[in-house]
Amino acid sequence: MKKHVVLGACIGLLISCSPKTTTSTQPVESTSKTLSAEALQGQTLYTNHCGKCHKLEPIHEFSESKWRKIVPDMCKKAKLNDEQQSLILSYVLEELK
Ligand code: HEC
Repeated sequence: MKKHVVLGACIGLLISCSPKTTTSTQPVESTSKTLSAEALQGQTLYTNHCGKCHKLEPIHEFSESKWRKIVPDMCKKAKLNDEQQSLILSYVLEELK
């Protein structure tokens, strides 16, 4: 006489409680940083204006010195004023830190 051990039933019980991964829908990059008031305004401007011609560029793709050239350049394209430009720059630089 042979004993038939059914292992399959045991495996099912083991994987019953895996935690669900909740994906948050944040506008730009998920960040755990606390941004200053200016940077938050900059983030909004960035999200609203900088994804029109191309997809929103990930901040960490470019260095600080690159962004210091890119932001004024792109703000001209996006027709943003100096104040908006400096808000976006504070957002980018705080995000890079
Ligand atoms: C009117 C269209 C337009 C808008 C609005 C715009 N961009 Fe661009 N962007 C471009 C074009 C075209 C390029 C690629 C050619 C170039 O570098 O000029 C580009 C390139 C870039 C690059 C890559 C630069 C590199 O060196 O590879 C970054 C970063 C960027 N944009 C950021 C921004 C940010 C930040 C804003 C918002 C302030 C913005 N863009 C708004 C048209 C736009």
